[in-house]
Amino acid sequence: MRDAGYSILLLPGDGTGPEVVAEGRKILGALAEGDTARWHLDERPGGAQYYLAHGKEWEPETEAAAHTADAILLGAVGWPGATLPNGDNAGAALVLGLRQSLDLYANVRPCRLYPGVQHKISGAYSTVWSPKNVDMVIIRENTEDLYTPAHGILRRADETEVAIDNRIITRKGSERVIRYAMQLARTRPRGAPEDGIKRVTCIDKSNVMVGCRFFRETYDRLAVEFPEIERDYAYVDAFTQWLVRNPEHFNVAVATNLMGDIITDLASVLQGGMGFAAGGNIGDHHAMFEPVHGSAPKYAGQSKVNPFATFFATEMMLRWLGARHGDAQLVRQADRLERAIASVLAAGTARTYDQGGTVTTREAGDRLAEAIRRLPA
Ligand code: IPM
Ligand code: MN
Repeated sequence: MRDAGYSILLLPGDGTGPEVVAEGRKILGALAEGDTARWHLDERPGGAQYYLAHGKEWEPETEAAAHTADAILLGAVGWPGATLPNGDNAGAALVLGLRQSLDLYANVRPCRLYPGVQHKISGAYSTVWSPKNVDMVIIRENTEDLYTPAHGILRRADETEVAIDNRIITRKGSERVIRYAMQLARTRPRGAPEDGIKRVTCIDKSNVMVGCRFFRETYDRLAVEFPEIERDYAYVDAFTQWLVRNPEHFNVAVATNLMGDIITDLASVLQGGMGFAAGGNIGDHHAMFEPVHGSAPKYAGQSKVNPFATFFATEMMLRWLGARHGDAQLVRQADRLERAIASVLAAGTARTYDQGGTVTTREAGDRLAEAIRRLPA
C-alpha cells in the first residue's frame, strides 16, 4: 500500500450521476471504518451541466487530476441541449476523452444475475433466466473502431450532403483487448455456467467486414498462446439471439467497440437491467470505473435511480487497485463489498423503482452500508 493511501478521483458528472456517486462514497466510507487512510477521495465537477454553466466541460486541473489519480469513479454525463460547437455532446471529454487520453483500451463489463434480482421482459417480472445461467464478462475494445474521430462531413451550399465515419481496426488495438479477454478467462475461477469450460467468444461480423476479419484472425493467432481456453465464434447478429436464448454458454466474450457498446446494453437485461450494469475502462497504467447507464435527466434530483451499478463499479475498482498494487487487504475489501451487495440483493431490502420497489437511491445506499458494517473488515 502507498503511504498516503490511494488517490481516487470521483467525477459525478450530470443528472443522476452525482446521486449514485454520493452512494458510492457512502459505501467507501463504510468500508473504511476501522481500516483508515487506505484511500483518499478527490471529488470534482465536470460534464454537460458544467459546460452550460461555465462554457467548458471541466477545469484543466480536473483533467490533470484524472491523469495522476490511482483510479477514477465516474457517475454519468450528458444533459439535454448541452452540445459543443462541433456538434458533439458536452461531457464527452470525461468519458470518451479519458478513454483515449488514458489509453483505457479494455472496457470490461461483467454480466451476472444475482439471486434476488428480478429482470423485466414485456413489462412483467419473469424468471426466464436464473442466477445459475447468467455469469459472463463482455470485453469491449474501447479506443478505436467507429469511435475514433476519423470522420467528416461534406457540406455543399450550406447543406450537409455526406457524413462519413471510418472504422479503424488496428493490430495493436485488437491484440491487446483479445489478450486481456484470454487472460481474464484464464483467471476466472468458473468457466461458462453451461459446462464449466473456460471459453472466449469472439464476436464480429467477419462474414462481411474486413476489419472484423482482421479482428478474428488476430483472435486465432493469439488463441494459440492460450491452449486451455476454448475458442468460440459468433457473428454479432446471431450472438444477440444466443445471448438471450442460451446465456449459460457464455463465459468471456470479446468484441470491437461499437458492437460491444450495443451488446452490453442488451446483456444488461439478463442481469436485472442497466441499474446493475457496471464497467471498468482499463488500460496498462490507468483505470476508470462507471455504471454503464446514462445520466437519466428525467429522474435527476428524485433519489430514485438504482445505485447498484455504481456499487459494482466500486467493487471492480477496489479489486483492480488491489491486484495492481499487490494489496491483499484491498482485495479483501472488494470481496467484502461483493458479499454485502449479494446479501442485500438476496434479502430484497433495497429494491428501487426499476425492481418494482419503493426504496430510494439513498436508502439503498444505507441498506448496503449497514450490510457492510455487519461483515468483518
Ligand atoms: C457507454 C456509453 C458511451 C459509449 C456514451 C455515453 C458515449 O453508451 O459507455 O456505453 O457510447 O461508449
Ligand atoms: Mn453504451
